[in-house]
Amino acid sequence: MKKISIAIDGPAAAGKSTIAQMVARNLDYTYIDTGAMYRCVAYYAFISGVDFHDEDKVISLLKDIKIRMLPDGSVHLNGQEVTAAIRANEVSMGASIVSQYAKVRSFLVAQQREMAKGGGVILDGRDIGTVVLPDAQLKIYQVASIDTRAHRRYKENIEKGIPSDLEALKKEIAERDYQDANREVSPLKKADDAIEIDTSDMSLEEVVAHVMDLCEERIKD
Ligand code: CDP
Ligand code: CDP
Repeated sequence: MKKISIAIDGPAAAGKSTIAQMVARNLDYTYIDTGAMYRCVAYYAFISGVDFHDEDKVISLLKDIKIRMLPDGSVHLNGQEVTAAIRANEVSMGASIVSQYAKVRSFLVAQQREMAKGGGVILDGRDIGTVVLPDAQLKIYQVASIDTRAHRRYKENIEKGIPSDLEALKKEIAERDYQDANREVSPLKKADDAIEIDTSDMSLEEVVAHVMDLCEERIKD
């Protein structure tokens, strides 16, 4: 069967990675969480005591950063597992700052393209359909209202035992969306040929079923 490449982009907490993982499992494809890679750069700056806003210093760290994304979904940075550590709130905001730097983006985009070559992949992020895989056979732009997204992330945090404040989360998500959509390099935007799915009133199962139908159409083409 033909192995296609699938791009899922959209704002924070729209359900991109959950859907991407479920679809990857159904199709037996490789899932690549590109946001985790930006989070690794921010986390490394954080533990190195480097200010996220100091572009030159952040860039000077890149040569020391080795990221490995394992098939079980765990993320390793220089041989250490950081899967949970990179989800901290300050790392989310840091990722949105360091992702504005062109050299950080080119460093990670090259690795993402290398991992994606050969097809049979599903990548999620902000610039997959526009920059990383402009020739992807299926591009999804997944959105949901800010209230829905903040509630979903809040619920997720509470379930994981992470103390959370709904209003603070909403503010952080809105700030990150603004920063991601307004940066100069590879801003968050819908690719012209992407299919937009508003998941505000859809269950996970409904979204997966819809995306699976689209995948099957493209695989048959
Ligand atoms: O990857 P992204 O930041 O876009 O979102 P996520 O981490 O996959 O999803 C945020 C939360 O929303 C997860 O806990 C999902 O289970 C939940 N959710 C969803 O993604 N889609 C729905 N239709 C309903 C809930
Ligand atoms: O899970 P959530 O949607 O909250 O964020 P994420 O996908 O883990 O991405 C964290 C941050 O990395 C985003 O706010 C973006 O600033 C940046 N990012 C990016 O610029 N390009 C990507 N392809 C993926 C993430």
